[in-house]
Parts: sequence; structure tokens; C-alpha cells
Amino acid sequence: MNTSQQIPLYYDPYKPEIWQDPYRILKRLRKEAPLYYNEEYDFYAVSCYGDVAAGLMDAATFSSARGNIIELIKSDFQFPPGIIIMEDPPIHTAHRKVLSLLFTPKNIHHLEGKIRGICSQCMDTALEKGHFDFVTDLGAQMPMQVIGMLLGIPEQDLHHIQEITDATIRAESGKPINAETSICDAEDFEGYIEWRQKNPSDDIMTLLMNTEFKDDTGTQRKLTLEEITSMVMLMSAAGNETTSRLIGWAGKILAEHPDQRHQVADDRSLIPAMIEEVLRFEAPGAHAARYVTRDVIIRNQTIPKGSVVDFILASANRDDAIFENGDEFNIHRRNANAHLTFGKGIHTCIGLALARMEGRIAMEEVFKRVRDWEVDYDKAEFSPTTSVRGWDSLPAFLSTR
Ligand code: HEM
Repeated sequence: MNTSQQIPLYYDPYKPEIWQDPYRILKRLRKEAPLYYNEEYDFYAVSCYGDVAAGLMDAATFSSARGNIIELIKSDFQFPPGIIIMEDPPIHTAHRKVLSLLFTPKNIHHLEGKIRGICSQCMDTALEKGHFDFVTDLGAQMPMQVIGMLLGIPEQDLHHIQEITDATIRAESGKPINAETSICDAEDFEGYIEWRQKNPSDDIMTLLMNTEFKDDTGTQRKLTLEEITSMVMLMSAAGNETTSRLIGWAGKILAEHPDQRHQVADDRSLIPAMIEEVLRFEAPGAHAARYVTRDVIIRNQTIPKGSVVDFILASANRDDAIFENGDEFNIHRRNANAHLTFGKGIHTCIGLALARMEGRIAMEEVFKRVRDWEVDYDKAEFSPTTSVRGWDSLPAFLSTR
């Protein structure tokens, strides 16, 4: 018997010592308890690729209507309409259709030059001052500005929205998120939307306000102020820290894999494949939880109606049954894009093309200037947030080109 088998198997996402490097425990979960029950927090955890993918495809059994974070589901809080990640069909289908109008290939493509400009400026400013942090100087700067451009939100309002939405998903180290304090104070932002309603322009926000859709009652109507506010807040919460974490992870993983970093530096056409493998290897949104609407059997065990199930995307992404040597980082992996980092089924990330483009451009701008770096772990800070996993700060010692 080896040592790991003698240590009782325990998993929750709240213990920093587990959360910072969960992969040894996730491997044991897949092998020893693919359906795991955590008594302390009363939730089930599903860790193998096939079970996670099947669960996410079954939205009728595994509902999002109470949220997709364990502690929010348990709080039984009523979220306002328009937060589509916390909705079930039919209203989810209707809302998602309207929101999809923002993410046409044309709208996304239109942002490429602007994203490059932001990344380039972030890099040059950091290099001028002589030190560079993958998260605070680049990852945390660019995604919110991009969401602002996508929606046409004035720059002065962006910072405020970022602060209130970041606060919704933050937790103290070692503790779950507090559902009561996680609800955003959207009053100021509603003021902006009301002003925009009276002063329409040709931007995307105006399009969102004027689009008619058939709601869950079959009524043809425009979005309400509350729905628009919720959608914008959701986009800010879902598209900001996640992308920021992706860039932090790329900085860390490439620092630890100098051979593959050099291959990318010498052939920048490898950047999209590298980003895909980073997404697989370190999923920023490491898990997605659901409320169980009926008794259901997984792995010959009944999960009772009313339970909470946590689908661990980060574990599915390392499953050797799908990804050969899943715990190995390999930019030449053929099927990296089979990862579940953007979810699966009706809630699949609506911003995935934008996120991939942001990651690609950010790293293109890094590699234009830098070939070698090492992480300054004495100053790096790992985020206590459990909904989005990664670094709040990742400073690096650089060798510029
Ligand atoms: C690396 C970056 C990103 C990651 C890892 C990520 C991950 C995810 C995941 C896993 C889901 C599904 C959650 C569930 O099933 O419960 C999701 C949904 C969503 N994401 Fe992303 N996301 C990223 C970037 C973005 C961006 C840039 C935007 C928009 C600007 C965005 C907007 C959304 C929205 C609106 C949903 C809800 C979709 C629905 O419920 O139908 N995400 N994302």
C-alpha cells in the first residue's frame, strides 16, 4: 500500500492547501471515489470526464436556477432575471439568444486591433518601469476594458463595475462565499443604462436595449432595465477574472516549461495551441455546481433530489482516459481543445471565442518583447477565491528580447 492510500481521501474547494494544488487529490478522486460525498459541506463531487460532461448536458436533472456555486445554491437566494448562468430553460434560452447578439464573429473580430493596442500599452508601461506582473500589469487590465468596448460602457464607469462584480465572487481565504453579501449594488450602473435609454447611439448597448424577443410566457417584448443590468453585471463577473487568471496561468506554466516556452518564442503560430493547453491544464473556472431536481443515479449510487453536485472541470481536464498523461503540460497535444474549461451543454461559455482571442493576443504581445522569464514566487499571490482559481499577482523576472 502506498502512502497516499493510507491518508483518508478528503476534498473541498475551501481549504487553501487543497485548492492551490488540487491535482494529487483530484487524481485520487477519479480513481477511488469518482462520486464523492463531502459531509462537512454536504455536497457531491463528480470528477471523471465522462460523468462531468454527461451531467452538464443534462440541464433538466442538474439545474442552474439556484446558481452554479455550491454556497450560492445552498443559500436559496433569488437572483434577479438576466443572470443567465443562473437560469434554466425556457427563460435561459430566451435570454441567451438576445445576449448572443453581442458575440457575433464580426463584433469579436472588430475588437482584435483594440485588444492588441491595450496589451501592447500594458506591456510597454510595465517594461519601462522595469518590472512586470502577468496579472496586475496585463491580465487584470485588459479584459474589463474589452467588456467595456464590447458594450460601449464609458471608461469612468468601468472601474466601479469591476469593483462591485469582483466583490460578488470573492471569499476570505479558507471560507465559502457569503451569498448575502455577494449580490451587487447595481444602482449606479442602472443610472447609466437609464441615461443610455434616453440617449440612444449606434453601440451594442443600444442594440441590447432595443432588441425584441419572446420571453418564457410567449410575450414579445424588450429587455427590462433589471434584465439588462443583470446581463452586464454577469458579463463583467464571468469575463473578467477568468481571462485575467488565464493570462496569469500562461505566465506561470511557461516559466516552468522553458523548452516549450522557447518553441513558442521561436514559432508564434504555436500560441493558439499553447493557450488551449493552458486552458486544459489550469482551468480558471475550476468547477460548476448544480442543484439536483430529481433522484438520479451516478456510478451506481443514488443522489437524492435537492442535493448539490459539484462538477469538477479541472479534474475532467486531467482525466487520463481522455488526455494521455493528463497531468503533463504539452502544447503539441492533439485533443487539448476537448477540455471542459468553458463548460458543456446549454451554459457553455458564451464568451469563449473572445477569451481565446484575448489570451492569444496577450501572449503574442508578451513574446514580441520577452523570451525568458522566471516567476518571483516570494511576491506572487494566489487568490483565495474558490469560484475562479488562479493568481492575484504573478510578478516575473524578465529577460527582454
Ligand atoms: C478564460 C476565460 C473564461 C473561462 C474559463 C470561462 C468559463 C466559463 C464556464 C465554465 C461557463 C459555464 C458555467 C456553468 O456551466 O455553470 C461560462 C459561462 C459563461 N461565460 Fe465564460 N469563461 C471565460 C470568459 C468569458 C468571457 C470573456 C465572457 C464575456 C465577456 C464570458 C461570459 C460568460 C457568460 C455570459 C456565461 C453564461 C452562459 C450561460 O449560462 O448560458 N466568459 N464561462
